Amino acid sequence: MEKDVVILAIESSCDETAAAVIKNGREVLSNIISSQIALHTLYGGVVPEIASRKHIERMNQVIEEALSEAKTSLEDINAVAVTYGPGLVGALLVGVAEAKAISYAAKKPLIGVHHIEGHISANYIENKELKPPFLCLIVSGGHTHLVIVKDYGEYEILGRTHDDAAGEAFDKVARAIGLGYPGGPKIDCLAKEGNPQAISFPRAHIEGAPYDFSFSGLKSAVLNYLNITQMKQEEMNLADIAASFQAAVVDVLVAHTILAAKNYGLHQVAIAGGVASNSYLRSQMLTACQTNGFELYYPSPIYCTDNAAMIGAAAYYEYQKGKYSKLDLNAVPNLRLGQR
Ligand code: KG4
Ligand code: ZN
Repeated sequence: MEKDVVILAIESSCDETAAAVIKNGREVLSNIISSQIALHTLYGGVVPEIASRKHIERMNQVIEEALSEAKTSLEDINAVAVTYGPGLVGALLVGVAEAKAISYAAKKPLIGVHHIEGHISANYIENKELKPPFLCLIVSGGHTHLVIVKDYGEYEILGRTHDDAAGEAFDKVARAIGLGYPGGPKIDCLAKEGNPQAISFPRAHIEGAPYDFSFSGLKSAVLNYLNITQMKQEEMNLADIAASFQAAVVDVLVAHTILAAKNYGLHQVAIAGGVASNSYLRSQMLTACQTNGFELYYPSPIYCTDNAAMIGAAAYYEYQKGKYSKLDLNAVPNLRLGQR
């Protein structure tokens, strides 16, 4: 029998300080997330300088908790993995410096992980049968990508957003209708009481780029609607606005994903990232996949938003290939997927 591979993973690219211990890429022994959301809510969004400082304050404790909950120690792990991009440079640096120090002191290999690759790999944790090739839609606060996962660690990007990320659009619209930060979960909740067909917001399709996305026009359309309704002193139904906006985002996400799955002959579809926990996206994507005979995979909400378990899952496949990072690994805020 092959020996177990246990990886300590660290994530600090945005506003969650997270550490996890993962066995054989798919078994979570611990998953500790210290969220800074309450702190950033005061400012209506993530303040990079505050995020970095909080990561420094919390990092050691989060790692200690992850090791103790997994009943393991630095001597017993096989490698230390860390998100090194993309993300906020100051925030990334905290995790990268910590991982390098542990790697050097404990004499364990270091594995730098791409944050989006982490989000994709979150799907491996609870779907033990999922193996490449598959199509993955990654929708988070910073990214909207449609990607073919050709093999572990091998990606072909089919499409991406031209402007706002899907989660960013959710957050901006939520702020405009007074729901606060982070807006995604709040819109998801309010939309359940609204009519998705009440207001006809635009669905952007880009000429010659069938798998790309654009959400800035939709965001402006919602802001215009709010202004006009206010000027006319007409009554506003916030639940209808939330439901109609959400439907406009989800329609495009589903349509482009299904088109790509059909055109590339991929029968396994996965979704990942914070917005993948959106209940309307999940239900619409499931219906569309069932209609077309595709299998749909998605992680539990705790593995959709930022966490370190997903970084450990991605790192396992790098470990298997012996792809280690050197101790001069640096934070790369605009790291591209597939770049090493
Ligand atoms: O993956 P994530 O934690 O961070 C990034 O890598 O960006 O994603 C956070 C984003 C935020 O924009 C948040 O509003 C959105 O995911 N989000 C949601 C939901 N839960 C989180 N958007 C829509 N519906 C949700 N239920
Ligand atoms: Zn993320």
